[in-house]
Amino acid sequence: MYVDEDNITDLAARRWATAHSPRQAELMTAMIRHLHAFAREVQLTEDEWMAAIQWLTEAGRISDDKRQELILTSDVLGLSMLVVQLNNRFSAQATPATVLGPFHIDGSPAAPYGFDMSDGIPGTPLFVTGKVVDVDGKPVPAAVLDAWQADADGAYEAQIPEIDEARLRAKYQAREDGTYCIRTIAPRGYAIPMDGPVGELIGATDISYFRPAHVHFLIDEPGYRKLITHLFQEGSEYLDSDVVFGTKDALIVRFTEKPAGTAPDGSHIEQPYLHAEYDFVLQPG
Ligand code: BEZ
Ligand code: FE
Repeated sequence: MYVDEDNITDLAARRWATAHSPRQAELMTAMIRHLHAFAREVQLTEDEWMAAIQWLTEAGRISDDKRQELILTSDVLGLSMLVVQLNNRFSAQATPATVLGPFHIDGSPAAPYGFDMSDGIPGTPLFVTGKVVDVDGKPVPAAVLDAWQADADGAYEAQIPEIDEARLRAKYQAREDGTYCIRTIAPRGYAIPMDGPVGELIGATDISYFRPAHVHFLIDEPGYRKLITHLFQEGSEYLDSDVVFGTKDALIVRFTEKPAGTAPDGSHIEQPYLHAEYDFVLQPG
């Protein structure tokens, strides 16, 4: 049978239903039905389709091992956060997940309790302390917290060319009782990268392209579900308009101002600092 406007969707879906993996067949046929429905609904023109192809080509071209324009695309469309929600419908006491974002770098260096991952980068000192526990409140001994963040200008290491050592990222080892202590600098709200195809699209709208101040965490312990999340600073600008839809009430934490003196890890600090306290609660899995 040859194609016409009415039978093309069924023909294409049936062809892709032959995928050897049943799950792939399901994904491909559903994607075809939704894409075709979209084209019909908006009566997609050939020029619009070609502009979309060129946009995707540019998003791929600009991406590399440090820049990920396609993750950013998924983030600003709300798709990343939808996938997070669909895959993390668990107990209400557990720490909620949020987007990974495009700036995580694998293989951060191991860091002991109280290690300063800011290493002299200018900013207000910030200590983040607490425990890693399970849903019953029992400590997860020696959990590893992979932490990363932007500097006070909103730049991540992945955005700074020719950097050859870890910058504002480290894998913190909690102690046997689950307690951890991170020393860093206070993050600031920042603009997502606007110099590529995502920025071009957003620039043609009224969308606010900022994220509220946050620190990222990834905790992947055997016997528990992998947790990818952030802690957001209470009162930070953009909490209500996060361009990637990542903010959650349970992840907003007070950054309390403290005077110079004894820091949370027992060391001496000569300037005022901020202190955030948060217990990460992991789901069994
Ligand atoms: C981030 O927080 O690192 C981020 C997440 C999504 C898009 C852009 C940045
Ligand atoms: Fe971030």
